[in-house]
Amino acid sequence: MVSRIIPVDEFDLIIFGGTGDLARRKIIPALFKRFQDEQIPSGSRIIGAARSDMDAEAFREFARDAIVAECKVSHENKDLAEFVEALDYVMIDALGEEGWADLSALLQPGRVRAFYFSVGPSLFDALAERLDRHQMVDAETRIVVEKPFGRDLSSARALNKVLSARFDETQIYRIDHYLGKETVQNLMAVRFGNVLFEPLWNSQFVDHIQITVAETVGVGGRGSYYDKSGAMRDMVQNHLMQLLCLTAMEPPAKFDPDAVRDEKLKVIRALNAVEPHHIIRGQYDASAEDSSFREDVENPQSKTESFIALKCHVQNWRWAGTPFYLRTGKRLEARDSEIIVVFKDAPHSIFGAEAGRHHNELRIQLQPDEGITLKVTIKEPGPGGMRLLDVPLDMSFAETLGPAADTPDAYERLIMDVVRGNQTLFMRNDEVEAAWAWTDPIIQGWESRGDVPKPYDSFSQGPAAADMLMQRDGRTWREIGQ
Ligand code: BG6
Repeated sequence: MVSRIIPVDEFDLIIFGGTGDLARRKIIPALFKRFQDEQIPSGSRIIGAARSDMDAEAFREFARDAIVAECKVSHENKDLAEFVEALDYVMIDALGEEGWADLSALLQPGRVRAFYFSVGPSLFDALAERLDRHQMVDAETRIVVEKPFGRDLSSARALNKVLSARFDETQIYRIDHYLGKETVQNLMAVRFGNVLFEPLWNSQFVDHIQITVAETVGVGGRGSYYDKSGAMRDMVQNHLMQLLCLTAMEPPAKFDPDAVRDEKLKVIRALNAVEPHHIIRGQYDASAEDSSFREDVENPQSKTESFIALKCHVQNWRWAGTPFYLRTGKRLEARDSEIIVVFKDAPHSIFGAEAGRHHNELRIQLQPDEGITLKVTIKEPGPGGMRLLDVPLDMSFAETLGPAADTPDAYERLIMDVVRGNQTLFMRNDEVEAAWAWTDPIIQGWESRGDVPKPYDSFSQGPAAADMLMQRDGRTWREIGQ
């Protein structure tokens, strides 16, 4: 097999917030795995920059522990010893002057320089200003920013303004880690690499589309962030929106950043204003062992949602009349994320009414296992007339591809795309703003009506009202965890 590694040149990656949770759980382990796969050339440097008073050796220790915990390697691992050698640390004050000259002195001219802003958005301005003032920004400089990118349209615009004052849009990488997931990219491969589906991919043949991102975890230690955010801001405005875009968009002329992002933007702009009775909000109750949402966020009056189900329409020629149902929540029955394209029944059954009604379904499974299933109708074997049966044509990536299906974590892919300078899987400024422009009126509506989410049992399918949303239309959700 041809090597799957696309080499990159030596680079410097600076992680602001280098001792934080994201660095520990995702960024540093992802870099280690790319190093293990020999994609990161030795000579590249990864520099942690944070307020914590530590030296490079202590940062290496921190990274070592993070990698051992996340990548299932031992402390004695040889790659690990080599990898941490490439790490350095600068104690820096984002709002003051300390550390900036030290950081500047560490950087090598003439190579890609990526600054990862793994800090709250309130620090973006200060970081950007200091990078500029200390002349650390050149043509090869990139910055990476995490979600949440604002909490509404006006704050997102303000952030875009702050960043665009110092960086060109081609230097700004707004991460939505769902775009780095292998199956999400596979969705594009399935749609645009095959002739089978695209002719049917429209309202003439598609009855509806279901997008579900279900989690079993609660809000964990992120209560105070989550109570101000809720599922709409935390998941729908970004991750589910991206899944919807990739499912609904027109084929771009080529797989290049602006061609893809132009098409996604058109989808967001074509979304209808969702009517209040087409959105169900839920909040999880306590279970025998686990606390309730309100306990987790330490706010007994919280009106924030941990679950959303909604129906929307992409108002364009391709999708007129085909509803998109989106659903996401925490503390649901299973970790289960998927996109299901439900095709219409055959227009006429030659087998008579007793054969029943049947339709095809294409199911693209993101989590926990990655795979694609096409449900087709066949004759039930044996005598007894023409009895029809729906069976899955199943392609579990793990079974079909074996070790080749070992998919990298989304962050591995995305960080290397930053180094390579490929923005295809990152959100553009106008895309983020359009997503907020769609989300804002929905949230404002809840606030002005004093809407209270419906309680649901922990580890269930969510509130019963979410089922009703579908049942009213004569449809049903696929059961979470089935
Ligand atoms: C994050 C959200 O962006 O995505 C979390 O802030 C959520 O609340 C997480 O749990 C889900 O990501 P994944 O990759 O585990 O599906």
